[in-house]
Amino acid sequence: MKKNVVLFSKIPVEQQKRLEQAFNLTIFTSSPDADKDAFTKALINADGIIGSNMATRVDDIFLANAPNLKAASTISVGFDNYDLAALKKRGIRLMNTPTVLTEGTADLIFTLLMATARRTVELSNLIHNGKWTKSITPDYYGTDIYGKTLGILGMGRIGKAIAKRAHCGFDMNILYYNRSAHQDVEQKYQAIRCELDDLLKQADFVVVILPLTPETTHLITKKKLALMKPSAILINGARGKIIDQQALGEALKNKIIRAAGLDVFEVEPLPMDSPLLKLDNILLSPHVGSATTETRYAMAKCAVDNIIAALQSDKPTANWVN
Ligand code: DGY
Repeated sequence: MKKNVVLFSKIPVEQQKRLEQAFNLTIFTSSPDADKDAFTKALINADGIIGSNMATRVDDIFLANAPNLKAASTISVGFDNYDLAALKKRGIRLMNTPTVLTEGTADLIFTLLMATARRTVELSNLIHNGKWTKSITPDYYGTDIYGKTLGILGMGRIGKAIAKRAHCGFDMNILYYNRSAHQDVEQKYQAIRCELDDLLKQADFVVVILPLTPETTHLITKKKLALMKPSAILINGARGKIIDQQALGEALKNKIIRAAGLDVFEVEPLPMDSPLLKLDNILLSPHVGSATTETRYAMAKCAVDNIIAALQSDKPTANWVN
């Protein structure tokens, strides 16, 4: 008999067809949080769930409504919205989509770094607003990237892909902060592992690409921001809660650091009354690290592979995170 699976994200048609062939599929198209009652109803008989919605916490409360659940397949690499202890108690497998989004996410982080350094959006707006009437003045100058020092917080797959771009393309000096040492990046890219405070004091660019855990929540506080160079640029492509966003807003306003590029926020979507929106030394993108056609396709395929394998086998399957 076919197992019951709830799909709660829009995925490419071919991948949806694979799910329809393998399972009794319930497709839940609006966000689970937008219509909680309907989603709860859909969960009652579910053996598996597949989708991506960082705002939905899959915890004891959620799982109380999913008594038959055996497997959850998130279309993301991050799984901080899943309560691993709650899953473990019920023997539910969780799978994610690592690897396939590494390069795309590293590209986006480098895009933010370069665009923030060279003030690309500000300068584009200058033209749009009819203010390019003579050569730009020094107050619009950017900052060099080539040969500068990059501090990477987190040396997982994406951290390594960023290190590669920085070393091979931009001859940057690389410092990194990570709980374990990575000899490969130290040898290939001459990366140097150091304490967080030392990295913050020395880096011209700081990139955050750590997982969100209790230890990394608000790792970057007002005090940490004060350690950075006034010319430094901070990029966050990981999770908003790793940085104290209010402290960052104040640091940018008071020119404690030069600029920031953020793809992630403490609350997403970013509320329109956020003080960040009043700043011009910040570049924002709406959580799009993996949002290319190729990468999102590969993520959907990987997540479909994961749920099919998990519900068809009791043995360990690929990308099993818990
Ligand atoms: C991920 O895969 O974790 C991205 O941040 C998308 O949520």
